Amino acid sequence: MPDQKHCILTAQNLYKTYGSGESAIQALRGVSLEIREGELLVILGSSGSGKSTLLNLLGGMDRPDRGSIMVNGQELTALRERELTRYRRETVGFVFQSFNLIAELSVRENVAMTADPSARRATEEALETVGLGHRLDSYPTQLSGGEQQRVSIARALAKHPRLLLCDEPTGALDYETGKQILAELDRLVREQGKTVVIVTHTREIGKMAHRVIRMRSGRIEGTETNAIRQTAAEIEW
Ligand SMILES: Nc1ncnc2c1ncn2[C@@H]1O[C@H](COP(=O)(O)OP(=O)(O)OP(=O)(O)O)[C@@H](O)[C@H]1O
Ligand SMILES: [Mg+2]
Repeated sequence: MPDQKHCILTAQNLYKTYGSGESAIQALRGVSLEIREGELLVILGSSGSGKSTLLNLLGGMDRPDRGSIMVNGQELTALRERELTRYRRETVGFVFQSFNLIAELSVRENVAMTADPSARRATEEALETVGLGHRLDSYPTQLSGGEQQRVSIARALAKHPRLLLCDEPTGALDYETGKQILAELDRLVREQGKTVVIVTHTREIGKMAHRVIRMRSGRIEGTETNAIRQTAAEIEW
């Protein structure tokens, strides 16, 4: 278990409402959590429970209506737009269900977009890490879904983020490929000490985590710590 005390992010009492008046949707209603360095954290909840909304706030893609998000001693909610962009670019890496690769760009170019422009090596290293060092010049449409997701993980890794935020990373993949991606994310935690957050509605995936946060209707329903973590190969759903 990673150091209990070393939190890289602490969120307190987050509220987020979409729309206003009668059509307003309270997506988050007072969410508090912490993310610890080197942990695999799974955020579990059914559709509409507020998982993506929460992840977007933690990643600086959107702002809460109320509440605090402390990262590296900085209050995220107090940052100006330009500083927030910098936080998104430098501190967090995102992996989405739908890969979000640019079809017109090669694998290398997709990953290089987020890496330090001077660091050609960072791009290649990140692609080697996910086992795609031999597909640098392929295009997204020439890759399988699992390979495309690996490229998107490499794109997130290339900038050496402190925090990797993954929103349903296996959602668009078949069962076996999804498991391979989970194994990949787990490996980043085990071997490279990365801090990874996985949002999912698949309860079994929680068994891989150091901690599981369960969400329901915009609130945190409970948090569990796993004494023993299972590997991606061991879990089934
Ligand atoms: N941009 C938006 N405008 C209006 N309502 C939104 C918006 N984004 C999310 N919502 C609503 O906020 C609530 C929480 O949505 P959110 O996407 O965070 O859920 P989720 O847990 O990620 O669900 P899923 O598992 O389906 O991805 C839902 O009721 C959703 O309809
Ligand atoms: Mg979602």
